[in-house]
Amino acid sequence: MKLTELKIGNLTAKLPIIQGGMGIGVSLSNLAAAVANEGGIGIISGVQIGFREPDFGNNPIEANIRAIRKEIKRAREKSKGIIGMNFMASMNNFELYVKEAVKEKIDIIVSGAGLPFALPKLVKGSDTKIIPIVSSAKAARVIIKSWLKHDKLPDAVVVEGPLAGGHLGFKMDELLENKCKSIKELTIEVKELISKYEKEYKVKIPVISAGGIRTKEDIEELKEAGADGFQLASIFVPTIECDAHENFKLAYINASDEDIKIIKSPVGMPARAITTNYLAKAEEKHEIKRCYKCMPNCKQSEIPYCISEGLLNAVEGRDGLVFSGAKLNNVSQLTTVKEVINNLIG
Ligand SMILES: Cc1cc2nc3c(=O)[nH]c(=O)nc-3n(C[C@H](O)[C@H](O)[C@H](O)COP(=O)(O)O)c2cc1C
Repeated sequence: MKLTELKIGNLTAKLPIIQGGMGIGVSLSNLAAAVANEGGIGIISGVQIGFREPDFGNNPIEANIRAIRKEIKRAREKSKGIIGMNFMASMNNFELYVKEAVKEKIDIIVSGAGLPFALPKLVKGSDTKIIPIVSSAKAARVIIKSWLKHDKLPDAVVVEGPLAGGHLGFKMDELLENKCKSIKELTIEVKELISKYEKEYKVKIPVISAGGIRTKEDIEELKEAGADGFQLASIFVPTIECDAHENFKLAYINASDEDIKIIKSPVGMPARAITTNYLAKAEEKHEIKRCYKCMPNCKQSEIPYCISEGLLNAVEGRDGLVFSGAKLNNVSQLTTVKEVINNLIG
């Protein structure tokens, strides 16, 4: 398959592949650098990135800021390629964390799970590119209209379909009843919208499709639908380079499609995860022992479990909350980033 390079402003990735940010701690500098070294774009997850810092328990905000600096530095030491960071727009201290990454001259900020209205002002005067994640043309339009007030257009747009992992930008009942538009339909609708802005402002805004991309055929289909790039996440988990604990990777290798379900995340959005004992128990309300200050207005008395606790348990190899995309039947062995990319694009 002939794939063309992906140009995002003055950045050129040899391969039009972005590795999706995976929090907490699943995509850090190691995975991001490995993908960047293959010619794609590596993304470090900024969600609770300081969890390995000794003072994280008492001082999560400072620990996160320090870890942002460390992980960017580590990625730069391992790769000369393009490195970005992903931050959830709805998380606590979003602006503080983005500013730190921009100060460290991160190439790209990718941001979803909420509407990242603040990004243009946060990158003003820097060379950092900004890419929103949307799950509809409507959301893309709302963000673009807001950014245009700052004379800024997105440098690219990620359109994420219903088969993606982690938090999902669709309604619970639509997901459960399979009523969401497919990633192909969403790519076509977002591409159509973006083309209008491209014509009006005489710029190029790549559209990057995400969610459930597992094979060459998936890529070909989305390319035909107009995608300029492809964001992949789950497929990079069972690799030697992925930053998560071995047990997290094994959960992927051992899972079949029946083990993956849509859950209501404590942050209020639907999400996709692999069934674990933790998840089965977590849905019954239990005591929350510590607050990691991840979400604004989190009402501990109203949530069944703490999302940071579940994700931290999982990434450190304990029974926890394992986010994943759909369709893991053929994700069945530990491999390398190079092999994943070779299998995908030949
Ligand atoms: C373990 C895991 C964690 C994720 N965490 C985040 C996150 O913190 N922020 C985000 O924007 N997307 C997150 N995602 C979504 C991915 O970045 C990506 O867009 C999506 O999973 C692509 O679909 P795929 O996994 O089927 O390739 C996560 C996905 C997974 C599998």
